[in-house]
Amino acid sequence: MAAVELKFDPKDMIFRHLGPTGLKVSIFSLGGWLTYGGTQKGSIVKDCLQAAWDNGINFFDTAEVYANGQCEIEMGQALKELAWPRDEYVLSTKVFFGTGRKEPNTRGLSKKHVVEGLKSSLARLQQPYVDIVLAHRPDAATPMKEIVEGFTQCIRNLNMAYYWGTSEWSARQITEATVIAEKYNLIAPIAEQPQYNAFHRERFEIEYKPLYDQFQYGTTIWSPLASGLLTGKYNDGIPEDSRFATNKSVFESTIKELKSPEGQAKIEKVKKLTKVAERLGGTVTQLSLAWCAKNPKVSTVILGATKIEQIHDNCTALKLIDKLTPDVMEEIEAILDNKPKGPPTYGRDR
Ligand SMILES: NC(=O)c1ccc[n+]([C@@H]2O[C@H](COP(=O)([O-])OP(=O)(O)OC[C@H]3O[C@@H](n4cnc5c(N)ncnc54)[C@H](OP(=O)(O)O)[C@@H]3O)[C@@H](O)[C@H]2O)c1
Repeated sequence: MAAVELKFDPKDMIFRHLGPTGLKVSIFSLGGWLTYGGTQKGSIVKDCLQAAWDNGINFFDTAEVYANGQCEIEMGQALKELAWPRDEYVLSTKVFFGTGRKEPNTRGLSKKHVVEGLKSSLARLQQPYVDIVLAHRPDAATPMKEIVEGFTQCIRNLNMAYYWGTSEWSARQITEATVIAEKYNLIAPIAEQPQYNAFHRERFEIEYKPLYDQFQYGTTIWSPLASGLLTGKYNDGIPEDSRFATNKSVFESTIKELKSPEGQAKIEKVKKLTKVAERLGGTVTQLSLAWCAKNPKVSTVILGATKIEQIHDNCTALKLIDKLTPDVMEEIEAILDNKPKGPPTYGRDR
């Protein structure tokens, strides 16, 4: 069957509540890891943000550690020049890793770094506040009560954020933070930023399930294309201007895996998914993004993009979401053959 070209209308953007909050985020959002302030600087950053905005995206994500603070500087400058009404877009940043400095207190989740890290992020972003500040990783060396107090202080006392969240925390740690917040009248986190894509499912689909059920915990998922693997661009090697070539050291083990039987099996799956996507009138990139967005536990799929064309291309995935019928989802499941099983229930499934 001939592929039908999909035309995207920005008005088709889907918005979901971010977890238990009243905040609405576009189902696709845009982040700056490795891209803005990294390989991409100056007017291209502004052009990418504008392309996202034109497609109905209202949520943008960065972190203190991205390009050692340079990502916040580039995205902040672009946002300033674009001058969109501040109440129309949602901005998040993340603290934990610092900006590359090695002093004992310039990273982690001590109250000092949470507050001072966020203050420095806001200065780089040229913003009085972010909507959401996330703990970029858990910090085993800081008492959980101090962590929750630090984020509460940012929100309640310093007006530097409206909400806080977690990134790559375990379900147990998120539960602990939530229980402590309730016990001491502090503010609980509202969303997790985990990796989630067709090749990386276990934690999102199994471990976090109680968080969705108990706390309506939200999710802002990262690497929906497995850094580009799910676009098919790595099927025949590594193109020169692609992420695996421009960020070789970050992807050393991934590049090695590509040549292994496991890596080749993934590429075979990408090829099979491509056929399904084409039958539905889209590309494997769009199918992979739509597959993430189809999951109702996903609040927003954070896109990464080095070019404005990628943003337009990726937002067209919206048109594929409704085409992922139960039959198509089953077909995809059979190709992926990686559905996480979870612990045994001894026949006590609900
Ligand atoms: N919390 C965390 O620990 C964490 C970790 C990682 C990311 N994140 C967040 O999640 C965001 C997204 O993650 P990600 O960038 O890894 O997402 P991704 O969608 O898996 O990868 C994005 C990369 O794939 C390539 N690509 C995207 N669309 C394409 C298209 N249509 N055709 C061909 N290539 C395409 C581009 O790289 P090239 O053009 O360079 O090949 C792009 O930069 C980040 O920006 C960041 O905000 C958070």
